[in-house]
Amino acid sequence: MEFKHISVLLDECLEGLNIKEDGIYVDCTLGGAGHSKEIIKRLSNKGRLIGIDQDKDALKAAGEKLKDYNNATLVHSNFENIKDVVENLGLEGVDGILIDLGVSSYQLDTAERGFSYMQDAPLDMRMNRELEFSAYDVVNGYSEDDLYKIIRDYGEEKFAKRIASFIVKAREEGEIKTTLELVDIIKAAIPAKARREGPHPAKRTFQAIRIEVNRELSIISKTIKDGVEKLNKGGRMAIITFHSLEDRIVKTTYKELTNPCTCPREFPICVCNNEPIVKIITRKPIEASKEELEENPRSRSAKLRVLEKL
Ligand SMILES: C[S@@+](CC[C@H](N)C(=O)[O-])C[C@H]1O[C@@H](n2cnc3c(N)ncnc32)[C@H](O)[C@@H]1O
Repeated sequence: MEFKHISVLLDECLEGLNIKEDGIYVDCTLGGAGHSKEIIKRLSNKGRLIGIDQDKDALKAAGEKLKDYNNATLVHSNFENIKDVVENLGLEGVDGILIDLGVSSYQLDTAERGFSYMQDAPLDMRMNRELEFSAYDVVNGYSEDDLYKIIRDYGEEKFAKRIASFIVKAREEGEIKTTLELVDIIKAAIPAKARREGPHPAKRTFQAIRIEVNRELSIISKTIKDGVEKLNKGGRMAIITFHSLEDRIVKTTYKELTNPCTCPREFPICVCNNEPIVKIITRKPIEASKEELEENPRSRSAKLRVLEKL
């Protein structure tokens, strides 16, 4: 299947990264290399692009797209390993890091990957198919309370309690194996009126399970801190998020890095001497323009935050 994905906030990312032609840039979420291709076009032979993705399908598509460039290095890894990736390549520091969170349209649209609530497929949702843990294990193995908590917290789903209870009840009849079996259970759990209003009734629960399977939220803050450690002075980090849970983590971690003082509030002066290590470039997150929204509705919830290493 062709790798289809429209890059979000492309010009804004390129501007935010403040690309130097001989710089080293890490794209932590390579996907179809939409952002990466535009970055590498702006580099001279002395510049270098490192692309990371945990999905081998993405690496294959990106390799094809970047085949004419000999200054691109593609790495199969989780971006939470950014420090190791940079160090293993023998690099001391990099000039820019891009993270475009979430799944690609290719992953969503490829039925067999099990991300979509619109197409029937085995319950999977793994971005890295070399790992064993999948949506099947969450849906069939988690306790009712754990299901309730992830659906409530990661899906921000009002009917989380009922959905968890309906899943556990359905499991008494046998394993839940496919996406559409799960969709039917979710639909039965949501009151008819609520089902008719708003987005697809399974949207929030599927988001929650996907986040859990791929540990999407728990790795963001550490990745930001490790990435910043590897940024050269003046280097930039640009992160695109797609929902409030991700954005909150990015915002809070950026803030922590601008104010790393650990002194108790009642201390009249700072004695820990922890100095800010970054400055925030985007006071408010950058959002898609009207033109982009018209062209790509997926950009509706995108928010870009940029920082610079001091
Ligand atoms: C939104 S897409 C990126 C699209 C890309 N920027 C483009 O323009 O083509 C996100 C990609 O990041 C990958 N990804 C998500 N989380 C990851 C992680 N923790 N480590 C490595 N790759 C990840 C996904 O597999 C997916 O291919």
